[in-house]
Amino acid sequence: MSVRRRLVVANWKLNGDLTLIGKMSAALNGLTDTTAEMVVCPAYPYLGSLSASKVKFSIGAQNMSQYTSGAFTGEVSASMLSAFDVKYVILGHSERRAIFGESNEIIAEKFALAVKNGVHPILCVGETEEQRNNDETEAVIGAQVKAVMDKVGVKAFIDAVIAYEPVWAIGTGKTATAEMAQQVHRFIRQQVASEDQQVADTLPILYGGSVNAGNAKDLFAQADIDGGLVGGASLKVEEFLAIGRSV
Ligand code: PGA
Repeated sequence: MSVRRRLVVANWKLNGDLTLIGKMSAALNGLTDTTAEMVVCPAYPYLGSLSASKVKFSIGAQNMSQYTSGAFTGEVSASMLSAFDVKYVILGHSERRAIFGESNEIIAEKFALAVKNGVHPILCVGETEEQRNNDETEAVIGAQVKAVMDKVGVKAFIDAVIAYEPVWAIGTGKTATAEMAQQVHRFIRQQVASEDQQVADTLPILYGGSVNAGNAKDLFAQADIDGGLVGGASLKVEEFLAIGRSV
């Protein structure tokens, strides 16, 4: 068995301000009692200041363009992220898929550009409540992973992270039980392993969806759960630290 990287990632979404950036930075810079790599993904404007202040944790973006440059008002490219030492980029979050109409194909294009520019993608996948009730969880997640793997090739996942986020658990306070999550994580790892065992063995797969200081330990103790992607609870400094310490 290989030792996989552990990550705890804050997805601030359209939240957070300079005050929270300052408090979170100070707290994370002093955090020593976790083996997890701590990552903060704030809104774009804050990435520059985090990068300039040489923080001791990793920084990530919540999205990026599928284009490299040109007349695309409002977009931010992979090379721009990379120039600011942005190590990770969340791609294919269910809010991007549902609200902004991002397809598997668009997400695959973004994934390819991120890897090409040295930014590590955190690829989000997950089923809706209806899909779970219809027993379509594995089909949906399988297709989401396959769409990207077919485009970029399994080797591109060497530098990537996958986050399993059941849509029905995001921001709802309903968490998948540790066993439910583990089942899907194992399915994802097997899918990658069917293309490349070594990539699958080292690929961090995070759980996301109402992770908090109370449920993190149980989730992170599962064999195929390598950390978390945390929304709401990552806006509270002490709680986010506690989730980090649960690894
Ligand atoms: P949540 O969000 O922790 O607030 O459920 C997770 C996410 O959307 O990444």
